Amino acid sequence: MRFVDIINKKREGKSLTKEEIQFWIDGYVNEEIPDYQVSALCMAIVLNGMESREISDLTLAMMNSGDVMNLEAIAGIKVDKHSTGGVGDKTSLALLPMVSACGVKVAKMSGRGLGHTGGTLDKLESIDGFDIYLDDEEFVKQVNDINIAIIGQTAQLVPADKKLYALRDVTGTVQSVPLISSSIMSKKLASGADTILLDVKYGDGAFMQTPEEAIELAKTMIQIGKDCGRDTRAMITDMNQPLGFAIGNALEVKEAIATLKGEGPADFTELCLTAGSIILQQAKVCDDKDKARQMLLDVIKDGSALNQLKLLVKAQGGNVEQIEHPELLPQAKYVVEMNAKKSGYLAQVKALRVGTLAMKLGAGRATKEDAINFAVGIVLNKKVSNPVNEGDVIAYVHTDVPLSEEWIQDFYDTFIVDDEPCTPEPLIYEVLQ
Ligand code: URA
Repeated sequence: MRFVDIINKKREGKSLTKEEIQFWIDGYVNEEIPDYQVSALCMAIVLNGMESREISDLTLAMMNSGDVMNLEAIAGIKVDKHSTGGVGDKTSLALLPMVSACGVKVAKMSGRGLGHTGGTLDKLESIDGFDIYLDDEEFVKQVNDINIAIIGQTAQLVPADKKLYALRDVTGTVQSVPLISSSIMSKKLASGADTILLDVKYGDGAFMQTPEEAIELAKTMIQIGKDCGRDTRAMITDMNQPLGFAIGNALEVKEAIATLKGEGPADFTELCLTAGSIILQQAKVCDDKDKARQMLLDVIKDGSALNQLKLLVKAQGGNVEQIEHPELLPQAKYVVEMNAKKSGYLAQVKALRVGTLAMKLGAGRATKEDAINFAVGIVLNKKVSNPVNEGDVIAYVHTDVPLSEEWIQDFYDTFIVDDEPCTPEPLIYEVLQ
């Protein structure tokens, strides 16, 4: 087989066989096929797409390029969830303790943040001592003991995706439903859980700009999951404005703690309850949506959801005192109030721009090598459509350095106050299964 023939075939819009796809992934991981040829193929896929069978073949070839977790030693149904990434998305930190408090086994592998999006691992590491590296045995034991473990993906998990994603990132080939769905699902399938809930975001701060595009991606991933015998469902959710109020690592941990106490932002709490109720049904803990929601509200009320977070933090070497007293989490030197310059309605708080503003404070990484400042970030005081009076605080900026003129200008270009009232996008657009 010659790789150039495979590139030509896809350039002409033809389907690749399973053997051709396997040849590609094997050859790329073994460094027999160079980056420039793979980037040409990826571009042909961006332009000409793949049919459903090709996408499943690609996902399985990628999944089998490295270790595949065997979670059989954990009794019961193991659940996993994945968000396609957003700003202020601390869902795993609150949702997973909630469902584990209801008896669900959560065996979760998470990632780090890059650019304007945050990653669960970075947020967890803002808790002193929290260790995201457990070996397979410790991981399985912890889920059996306390129902929950959250760790980093090992280097051996889907090595094909590590190479491919890095290449796609610099060759303009990220935006493609076949490539995104196979990338995400290969990692989910290799992580070994029985059920997968996908939170597919659309809007300014997401990969997919419109609900229709997000639905197409979600349907593709659901089909891959089903082809592999996993109960896979998806929520289509809005990422035009940040989720909740807090953006920044320790700030998001604090907001997750508040949510586990029943004191979280309305939108974020709603997302956790909707996701949690789907997960409880997937885990067969409950077969009714409303009863599942009530179970989640009960574990918030009786403190067992928060207790699960404490157990998780303790089991992974973290400082539980910081969960009991969130003011002990890393704190920035300054908290700067940002005031509205005129009265009206908050019309726009574009997630991508807010994420970039937070990244510039040090809350995120511009490149993979950048260090993160856990303490810094932005806490919104208003959400889209809220009325504001001139002088009202629209956000608190947690920073270790005085804000530059340029940053302040960017802030006011991002938080747009308009004269006319407006309606925000609904947070949860659709649930698919
Ligand atoms: N997230 C992934 O893991 N892969 C993609 O291709 C895009 C988003």
